[in-house]
Amino acid sequence: QKPCDIYAAWNTPCVAAHSTVRSLYANYSGPLYQLKRASDGAVRNIGVLADGYANAATQDAFCAGTTCVITKIYDQSPKHNDLTISLGGRYKGTGSDGSDLGAVADALPITAGGHQVYGVSISPGMGYRNNRTSGVAVRGKPEGMYMVSSGTHFNSGCCFDYGNAETSGMDTGAGHMDAVNVTKDLSWVDCRNAPGLGVQADLENGLFHWNKRSCHPATNVIGAPPFLSAWLKNNGQTSFVLKWADARSGKLNTIYAGVLPAGYAPMHQEGAIILGIGGDNSHASAGSFFEGAMTAGFPTDSADNAVQSSIVAVGYGARTGLSGVLTPGAEISLRATTACCTGDYVRNQNGAAMITPITSNSAEQDKGDATWIIRHGLADNACVSFESRNNPGAFLQLQNSVLRVQPFDGTTQSRSDATFCTQVGKNGRGSSFNLVNDPKKYIRHYYGKVYAANDGGGKNSWDTTAHWIDDVSFIVGPPWA
Ligand code: AHR
Repeated sequence: QKPCDIYAAWNTPCVAAHSTVRSLYANYSGPLYQLKRASDGAVRNIGVLADGYANAATQDAFCAGTTCVITKIYDQSPKHNDLTISLGGRYKGTGSDGSDLGAVADALPITAGGHQVYGVSISPGMGYRNNRTSGVAVRGKPEGMYMVSSGTHFNSGCCFDYGNAETSGMDTGAGHMDAVNVTKDLSWVDCRNAPGLGVQADLENGLFHWNKRSCHPATNVIGAPPFLSAWLKNNGQTSFVLKWADARSGKLNTIYAGVLPAGYAPMHQEGAIILGIGGDNSHASAGSFFEGAMTAGFPTDSADNAVQSSIVAVGYGARTGLSGVLTPGAEISLRATTACCTGDYVRNQNGAAMITPITSNSAEQDKGDATWIIRHGLADNACVSFESRNNPGAFLQLQNSVLRVQPFDGTTQSRSDATFCTQVGKNGRGSSFNLVNDPKKYIRHYYGKVYAANDGGGKNSWDTTAHWIDDVSFIVGPPWA
């Protein structure tokens, strides 16, 4: 059973069901989302394959040679509460007429159900909204919601929300929002030193992970899986519940179950739906969205558990079965061939690209950091891009001559900085990779760091011709994770 079939069976039917990845009902065969392409302004709906996953090949064909943004995420529920690019609110966006920007359609390639599909990658300035909904809880009615998001792509800007918000786009006060939020929470002074992200309830004028305007020492930070599910239920009168889980395995963890904060009971929801922004159209947040649903009524824990099982069954980020080849969807490792370093692999190290030794005894984190997913070249389909296994949506890309592993922001510059064309290894072993827009610059390791180094020498120390042919040649091998 799919999430909204489960909620329906438990008498808390979905009143919103959004996903660019899959259908959330077993019998939904309508469109999942709509694209608009830059070249001619044409729009196209993306539907589902027979097994309910997005037909992303349609997107690839429609957007070939140009760029597309996601203009609409269809509501699969009978309420038709579709999300479109937010028109702005108290805070205006940078789009025309103060609207926000749409997410770049190919910024977040992932594997789900064995298919390559796309998530919604929100950077600051982007957001979606529907101010005229049907069936969504208002004025103290109970509701529940969840979203599948990312534990590695986030920031601390307001507000990476999915859920219920003001119909005016203005902050109308405590309890006028009821949205699940994934962020590094800087709201409360004693949260500011917390190392990671949390799941909160955005109830307006406050992100709450319990019922106080402060950090709960035990629950303000959760784990950081690449795919996480975040859950909020609110009975609208007295209490709310927050949970989270790894979206790829395991059970739900309760963060908080108890009374609403003072001043928030009863709730005053207004029934708009937001994604990636705050109730007043604050749009400083970053995050990833893969699927989410909202219910009428307070879902049972049994229903939540069954929905979590359905999410795990998707196999978010699971292997495609392609391994060690430069084919989109394949997972690989890149091993250095220079005599110094033949046990070293190109890896992500907190956003920097490095080479370090990796063995079968290495920590799982290190193995994941040394594993790359091959994607269609973001700037040229004939070339490739390298997505971090541990950080979906983050790509190996050039930044000031140094290669780093950073979220793809959809800009033309970022596309070419993350696209490499493959050729036979310059020393006769493995492969070498040159930048698509600067063919004399090759991926090179030099004193442990990874650069785009010039062929034939250059002004930077890492352009030196000594060891150049070895330093730019890498063995493409099986993934470590
Ligand atoms: O509650 C946090 C945020 O505060 C809301 O999302 C926004 O409307 C307000 O700025």
